[in-house]
Amino acid sequence: MSVVADHLSWGVKRKAIVKDVSLRVTDGETLGLIGPNGSGKSSLLRLLAGLKRPDQGRVTIHGKDIAAIQRRALAQSVAFVQQNAATETSVSVRDVVRLGRTPHRSALSGWRAADQAAVDGALARVGMTHLQDQSWLTLSGGERQRVHIARALAQSPTVLFLDEPTNHLDIHHQIEILQTVRQLNVTSIVALHDLNLAAMFCDRIVVLKDGALVASGTPETVLTEDLIANVFRVAAAVSPSPHHGRPQIHFHTGV
Ligand SMILES: Nc1ncnc2c1ncn2[C@@H]1O[C@H](COP(=O)(O)OP(=O)(O)O)[C@@H](O)[C@H]1O
Ligand SMILES: [Mg+2]
Repeated sequence: MSVVADHLSWGVKRKAIVKDVSLRVTDGETLGLIGPNGSGKSSLLRLLAGLKRPDQGRVTIHGKDIAAIQRRALAQSVAFVQQNAATETSVSVRDVVRLGRTPHRSALSGWRAADQAAVDGALARVGMTHLQDQSWLTLSGGERQRVHIARALAQSPTVLFLDEPTNHLDIHHQIEILQTVRQLNVTSIVALHDLNLAAMFCDRIVVLKDGALVASGTPETVLTEDLIANVFRVAAAVSPSPHHGRPQIHFHTGV
């Protein structure tokens, strides 16, 4: 079991934001986290990745309580792609991706062949090799997103958390990034707001509503018309795709 969360709760002042969430993610699985805006997806991801401490409950990664793992050791196995990650200084694309190697380097060791291979591989994975010398500041939103994903891949994680990684991407790159994530030999937990993309690329889906887990299971079992109406407040028809067999959602609520 890669990631196990037991009865996680977290809030601010008197407001409960994540409410008693338990889940398990097996090795190599791609778990999708869906839910309306403000349902707690980002907060839950941050708790699972150890970026926030829960008020109650605990998270283990590869069997170890993350509260007991040192930050550097955690960063050697866990990478996180934030929702609107910003890098403001004028550095090259390659330099941003090189930062992913930080947890694996010591003050004494220089830049090693393994570090270079990880950076080259990560750039190639997201199709950014040809732009590696370009300044970060000159990139489009979608290119920046792909560079942030490359930085996380360069970290060589065994567990990868991504918070709405397809937000700024065109449809080609949305599909390409999620295919890449799926094919990686890592456990991935991905917050997504596009239900069709979640259906296509996730092994399992967890649904949040008002901070609580309201459903979990395969895309086929979770993405029902009733659930979409209850949680997302839209009328939809769901049928298996003739191309990939996964559920396909057609929204009816409209003009
Ligand atoms: N640090 C915080 N302080 C106060 N409220 C917060 C904080 N973080 C998140 N929230 C609130 O918690 C709710 C869930 O937020 P979030 O986890 O970002 O949801 P999602 O990612 O599903 O849109 C929102 O109502 C948000 O305003
Ligand atoms: Mg969010």
